[in-house]
Amino acid sequence: MNRFIICTLLSGLAVAAPKAQDTLPDAPFHDLKVPEFLDIAHRGASGYLPEHTQASTVMAHALGADFIEQDIQLTRDGVPVVLHDEKLDHVTNVSEVFPEKHRPDGKYYVVDFSLDELKRLTVVARHKDYELVYPKRFAQPDVRFPIQTLDEHIKLIHELNRVREMSTGIYVELKSSRWYQQQGYDITSAVMSVLARNGYSDKRPTPIYLQSFDPEVLRRLKREFNWDAPLIQLVGDNEWGATDIDYSAMRSSAGLESVKSYAEGVGLWLNHVLEGVSENGEPQWSDVLDSAEEKGLNVHVYTLRADDLPDGVKSHGQLRQWLKQAGVEGVFTDFPDKK
Ligand code: G3P
Ligand code: CA
Repeated sequence: MNRFIICTLLSGLAVAAPKAQDTLPDAPFHDLKVPEFLDIAHRGASGYLPEHTQASTVMAHALGADFIEQDIQLTRDGVPVVLHDEKLDHVTNVSEVFPEKHRPDGKYYVVDFSLDELKRLTVVARHKDYELVYPKRFAQPDVRFPIQTLDEHIKLIHELNRVREMSTGIYVELKSSRWYQQQGYDITSAVMSVLARNGYSDKRPTPIYLQSFDPEVLRRLKREFNWDAPLIQLVGDNEWGATDIDYSAMRSSAGLESVKSYAEGVGLWLNHVLEGVSENGEPQWSDVLDSAEEKGLNVHVYTLRADDLPDGVKSHGQLRQWLKQAGVEGVFTDFPDKK
């Protein structure tokens, strides 16, 4: 076959191949099929591959997660990137590549690096004080995992949905909004721009949840951006000391009533939900589940880890099943295949 014929065939194929955009569902969120109980891949399939990487996203998709989570930070040039921490120290090789680029506190902040600079790093297994946080997980240092932007994550998931004929959702957390404001950035606007560019302003290319620990972020999404897909208020613990938001009050009946005025659900910390396991092996639930249900709030519980189970729990599958039976609507899990 001569070169002209091959080129013609290839160009014919290119014309015939459907573009991702043509095949995305053109339906409002609630018309897309969403299961009743959600397995949300926490930072991707982070139990198997370094968190938030392209690899952990692909694996989460392949393992059948209903949603894949993206925690968002901002670069110096204002690009939303998928990283959990404001600092790069515990999940990248930043100190090897940019040894001088830390702040006076000795830490390396995402917002001090341009996207081009971040792309020179590799994501590594989460570590602290020179020790792996989860010693049994993937930790091969010679396999390189670039930091991903939110835009790249979304495009990857859309294309996997197209070729696998699935509608895996995205579950985006707007991190540290007040801290970014102090640095001169608006993380909410930056994220909303990326979502709009990927078709989420008037359509739902995939199911989507937005989540935040900060009630003002969620209120603003409704007020200023007219966001009408489901919002999840994450409920932390006052002892974490990261903010002055009173999470104890938020977990009270009045607090949950207030959350119901702007969010469709709450993301509850597992330790606030499961108080323990009785001597005869039964789960002991706190009152917060009943309170949330009374208010009509969906509950998504974070975080299930097969390699870090609460005392008395025999397996990830047992814990997931208990939560499902207790009426919870979904779980964030590092192991989305363990049912
Ligand atoms: O967003 C749900 C869960 O991921 C909250 O905890 O700290 O892992 O973002 P974190
Ligand atoms: Ca999160």
